[in-house]
Amino acid sequence: MFDIKDLYQEIIVDHNRNPRNFGAIDDADNIMEGFNPLCGDRLKLYIKTEGQIISNIAFDGTGCAISVASASLMTDAMKGKSINNAEILFNNFHELITNDNAVDEESLGKLAVLAGVKDFPGRVKCATLCWHTLHSAIMGDKKTVSTE
Ligand code: FES
Repeated sequence: MFDIKDLYQEIIVDHNRNPRNFGAIDDADNIMEGFNPLCGDRLKLYIKTEGQIISNIAFDGTGCAISVASASLMTDAMKGKSINNAEILFNNFHELITNDNAVDEESLGKLAVLAGVKDFPGRVKCATLCWHTLHSAIMGDKKTVSTE
């Protein structure tokens, strides 16, 4: 029988193997680094904005399958979004993977494939590494973001 979890798993594997938006943006307005001290993984986020719109976003660095897939899915979802909508998406995504309260998964689109991470508390930081990095970049923080 078709299992939605298998499809989700396939999408995560695909985004880890072929990460979208991987690489630097030469003329980025904002570059922010996220670090998970528990494993040593680091992701760097490159953001280009036009007014209040994220016109381009990419990442590089090294990370586990979940952190890379999450960064790939996040950067795909953020392109063309306003800064305000990016923050709303950040909050909804955070709810999705940390809370049992129902979140409108449809509003999250493909990002909903990471919902299963909630069942593995140790992996939540992997999935949120790039998101906290983006959040800090938007907030204008200057130093590397740490998950601890
Ligand atoms: Fe390092 Fe997942 S194990 S971010």
